[in-house]
Formats: sequence, structure tokens, C-alpha cells
Amino acid sequence: MVDIHSHFLPGIDDGARDAAECAEMLRIAAASGTTHLVATPHADYRFHHDPEVARRLLDEARRAAPPGLDLTLGCDFHLMQDNIEAARETPRQFTLNSSRYLLVELSDMVIFPNTGELFGRLEEAGLRVIISHPERNPLLRQRPSLLREWVDQGRLLQVTASALTGEWGAATRNFARKLLAEGMVHFIASDAHGARGRTPRLDQARRWVELSYGEDFALRLFETNPRAVVEDRNLDPPEVLNCKPVAVRQPLWRRLLGPFGTASPTPAGSPKT
Ligand SMILES: [Fe+2]
Repeated sequence: MVDIHSHFLPGIDDGARDAAECAEMLRIAAASGTTHLVATPHADYRFHHDPEVARRLLDEARRAAPPGLDLTLGCDFHLMQDNIEAARETPRQFTLNSSRYLLVELSDMVIFPNTGELFGRLEEAGLRVIISHPERNPLLRQRPSLLREWVDQGRLLQVTASALTGEWGAATRNFARKLLAEGMVHFIASDAHGARGRTPRLDQARRWVELSYGEDFALRLFETNPRAVVEDRNLDPPEVLNCKPVAVRQPLWRRLLGPFGTASPTPAGSPKT
């Protein structure tokens, strides 16, 4: 699996605290089936993104990584004026593995009325916007039509793996699943911040998607689409725009005994902020 959103670089933001926690996060990712992890340190009001510092930490993390786990650099780009200007000047200093794809986080305090125009300013610079974890944004949960509009205009959505399996509470889980069922999700990523809470595991969410919608659909969200991003390839329009999944009919025993079921899944873990 390819995970396009995680905070495993040590001491650079609110992710891994030190090299030991970074190494443990890498071990957890590899042990649960991830083969490519993109480091996405925050670029926001609290944390300044310095690609040179991040690259040096990435080189150190590579030396601690289990065999078979590729590590590359991106960032968690907060949609704010300074960032937009900097990204227009040197677009690829912020993108995922220096591709055209930019992981964009919106404020959960305010959604600017001109957000679509701000996306447009980034797109004028050749960037492709991936909106990160909309399911965890209470303002967006109240305005799903905005997300529909943006997706119809070609913006991509990344949902959090642990949101799908219930770790952020029922409202977030249900909205994540609604987006998925409506064919609006293009990537599932961990947004991992540590080795204990918010870990870089994707396997449980993948299992849930496989049980609900089948292996092909899960493959697209956990491998095919995110791999196209890190390899800077175009996502084929039919693959992106026509990704409405078809529910898989599971036997009753599997629905009752499966790890998260399909009809009325059990939340895993307690909500975090
Ligand atoms: Fe993040």
C-alpha cells in the first residue's frame, strides 16, 4: 500500500517526537503492509515547512527503515495566503514526492467563500489539489454540497483510514463512509502522528473497504491511485470521476463476525482530537 499522508519525521512538527518513535512508526507501517510512505510535515501557522531540514531528516529515517519500505517527502499544506504565494513561486517544494499533487488542508474554523478560487490559483501553477481528511472538518460535514462541487471540478479527496474504522467517532466515521459510498474518495491515508495513537496502519481500513466494496475498489484507493501520485502520473479520468463503488454482498456470518462488519460496524478505539 502507498500512504500519502503521515507525520513520521522526528521533532519537526506534532508527529514523531524522536528518532525512536519515527523508527517504530516505520516498523508498524511495514508490518501492516505499507510499502511506500510519504512524509508530510505541516506547513501552517504553527510549523514552517523547510524542505532542506525535512530532506535531512528523511535521509536519517531511510537508514532506520525496514527493507522494502520506500520513503519520500511531501508536506501537509495549509490553505493560507503565504503558502499559496510560495507554492505559486516554487510549486514543487510543497508537493508529494515533487509531483504535481499537493495535499491541502482546510481550516476547521472557517471555510473562505473564495476557497474554490484559491484552489484555482494553485492549479494555475500546475498543481493538482488533494483535499485532506474532509470528514474530520465539522464545517465541511455540514456542507457536503461544497465537496461535491469541488470534486466535480476535478479536486481529489483523501480520507483518513482511522476515520473509516471509527476512531474519530460516529459522525466522522459516517461522513467518511458516505463520501466513499458516493464515489467521492480517491485516496485513503493514515495521517499518522505517532507509534501509539494515530499510527500509520492502513490494513484495518483496507479490510473494511474490501469487505464492503470488494478487493478491486480497495486496490484503487490504497494502491493504484496513491501510486500514481508518488510517480507523478495522471489519474485516468474514468478512474477518478467514475469511482462509485458497488456494495459487496457478504455472507451473514461474515457480517456478524468480521472485524468491523459491513452493515453496522463497531467503532474501533476512542475519539481523538
Ligand atoms: Fe496531516
